This record gives sequence, structure tokens and C-alpha cells, in this order.
Amino acid sequence: MASLTALTVPFLLASTLLHSAPVLAKREDCDCFTTTSSRGKTILYANYEYHDFRSFPSTLSASDASVKSLKSTPLTTNKTFTDDWSIQDWKSQINPEADFSVVNQVSNILPIQRSALKTSSSGADGVDESQLLLRSYKPTGSKQQYAAEMEHRNKDVFTASVRVNASMYGDPGAVIGIFFYRDGKSETDLEILTRDKHNIVRCTNQPALDEDGNEIPEASTIVEIDGSWTDHHEWRIDWEDDLNSWFYDGEKIAEKSWGVMKKNGYFVMNVWGDGGEWSGKMKEGGEAGLRVSQIGMVYNTTKDRDDGVECERICDVDDVEAFDAVTKTSTNAQKGAAGRARFGWGLGAVLGLVAMVLVV
Ligand SMILES: *[C@@H]1O[C@H](CO)[C@@H](O)[C@H](O)[C@H]1NC(C)=O
Ligand SMILES: *[C@@H]1O[C@H](CO)[C@@H](O)[C@H](O)[C@H]1NC(C)=O
Ligand SMILES: *[C@@H]1O[C@H](CO)[C@@H](O)[C@H](O)[C@H]1NC(C)=O
Repeated sequence: MASLTALTVPFLLASTLLHSAPVLAKREDCDCFTTTSSRGKTILYANYEYHDFRSFPSTLSASDASVKSLKSTPLTTNKTFTDDWSIQDWKSQINPEADFSVVNQVSNILPIQRSALKTSSSGADGVDESQLLLRSYKPTGSKQQYAAEMEHRNKDVFTASVRVNASMYGDPGAVIGIFFYRDGKSETDLEILTRDKHNIVRCTNQPALDEDGNEIPEASTIVEIDGSWTDHHEWRIDWEDDLNSWFYDGEKIAEKSWGVMKKNGYFVMNVWGDGGEWSGKMKEGGEAGLRVSQIGMVYNTTKDRDDGVECERICDVDDVEAFDAVTKTSTNAQKGAAGRARFGWGLGAVLGLVAMVLVV
């Protein structure tokens, strides 16, 4: 208890002085993390991760970025990155429908200055910060569509809330996917089809088709957003044990209790196309991409579920627009003690006062 006692003073001070006003907590001062679900439930998670690509050192200019056969990139040699993510490098079979194959290349996932991006000037705020680009393109005269896929290395995820701050662009003929995956029949997807209008997104729990190839009505929802996916937005997917919810800038846009993943899986982002019915056929010389500034994720694993995790110090993740200004409150009603903490997804936003729960 000695270490807890040391923290009690700032906690008590904070709660006395500020009453319920939030204070800032450091990531390392939180054992567990909560979010508010689409139905207003407080959900607890044992793990937290935040990846900010905005300050990523990018040495790639527009002309480097157009070189599309790099075997190594600033990411493939970055251990901090490759410890968490695996960049895919494989080729699919030819889709007979289209005579296309999909070729995932490491050179299609790059940290890049916004000003070097094909269809973008610098950001709306005028800051030329970096973004992580995932792209897919179809060279002239080629039977291959080059693609990008990054998979999170923790394959034991079971329940999560993930937020991706990103914009998208592209010619028709690509699928931009942000999803949890186990296998083709167990998958929770947010998909943007570049052949759709810029305000259409698709939220699906797989399988979307039954054994006869007919659409399962509960599986997929086509959502019309108030805006365009070509602009920068916060996309969020929640995976609870009996419910999935999709959010757009903090607003719930879809919810499904059908087809919720019942076993562990992992988080994936990709951009691809195979000329088939779903992706559509990309024109020669066409390109599409996903530009990510931040990824925030809280999750449990099946190991956490089976072993149980001690959550003494809890920080809440609230739904605000930007990850780096997320408000977190700490409560632990079951144990009868409560504190409130404000906790930034970005470690830069940290002030260092901890809210904690005293366990007797
Ligand atoms: C390596 O990746 C991490 C994020 O995963 C980033 O913060 C860091 O700046 C990168 N370092 C280099 C040298 O690119
Ligand atoms: C992240 O997305 C939200 C919602 O669109 C936005 O308010 C915020 O500015 C974004 N953050 C960055 C760094 O672009
Ligand atoms: C995540 O794990 C924690 C700690 O074991 C547990 O209390 C919580 O209920 C789990 N959350 C979900 C959504 O299963």
C-alpha cells in the first residue's frame, strides 16, 4: 500500500479542490480504461494504445512517394512500429471475374508529409504534418492492383474500442477497410468503397451472404454520413461481447447485435481492389488511399478475460472529437470509491495528476 499512499494526497487534493472537475492522468498511472458504449454503458478495458503519425519523421518527398517498388521504407526499419504492426507483403490469386490479382507491397504504407500527397494540399490548419498513407493503385497495362494492408500484431483481441482519425481519397475501384478480423466469417468491418458517393460508408458484420449467396439483411448497413469521407474525420468501431457500434465524429451511425465476433481476432487497415463486383474495377493509372493521423485503441484479450485483471486505477475515455483531448473520468462504483481523471490519448497532453481508487 505504500505506493498507493504516495498517490493519495494529490488525489484527495484534486477531489477536494476540483470536486468533480476532471484532472489529468498519465497513461502509466492507469491500470484500466473505460469507454461509454453506444447504449450508455461504461465498459472496462485492460489495454490502451495510441499511435500518432503526425510527428512521424518523414523523409519522403512527392517524387520519392511516387517510387512504388521500395523494398524497405522508414516503417519497415522502425522497430517501434513493427513491434505493433505487421505490414503485409503477399499476392492474391487472380480474380477470374476481372483478370486482376491483388499485390500487397510494403512500399504502399508510408509516413508522408501531407503536402506530398497526391490529392491533398497541406492540412486545413495549414500545418504540414505527417500522415500514414496506405494506398492502392493500378498501373497502366498491368494485371495487378497494388495494395496496402497493416495488421495489428496482437491476435488475441477480444472486445475493443478503436478510433482512427483519417481521410480517404481515390478513383473508383478500391475498398478502404478499417476492421476487426478473425476469418472471412467472423469480421466486423467499416468499409469505404471508392465507387460509392463520398458520403456513403458500409458497416458490416460478416458473413454478409448466406450459404446460397443471398444477402443477410442484418449483416450490413449502408450509412449516409453528414459530410464526406474525403475530409478528416474520427472513425470509431466498438466491439462489445454482444454488440458492435460504429461512430463518425462521435455520433453513432450503426449498431449490430447480429454477427458479433465471439472469438479473438485482430485489428486491420487496408486499401485494395481486385476488379471484382465489390471493389469495382479501377482504371489504369488510378489510385486510392487512406491517410491516418492517429489511431487510439482500448481492448481486452481472451487472456485478460480468462485470467482477470486487477483494475485499481481506472481512466475513462470519453467521446470527444480529437484523441489528444479525450476526457477521462475514473470511477469504480463497485468498490465504493471514485475519482475523476482527464486522460489524453496523446502523452503530450498529460499533466501528471493521478486519480485513483483506494482498495482496502
Ligand atoms: C518509429 O515509429 C514510431 C511510432 O510507431 C514513431 O513515433 C517514431 O518517430 C518512428 N521513428 C522513426 C525514426 O521513424
Ligand atoms: C481528429 O478528428 C476530429 C474529428 O474530425 C477532429 O476534430 C480533430 O481535429 C482531428 N485531429 C486531427 C489532429 O486532425
Ligand atoms: C475487460 O477486462 C476487464 C479486466 O479483466 C474486465 O473487468 C472487463 O469486464 C472486460 N471488458 C469487456 C468488454 O469484456
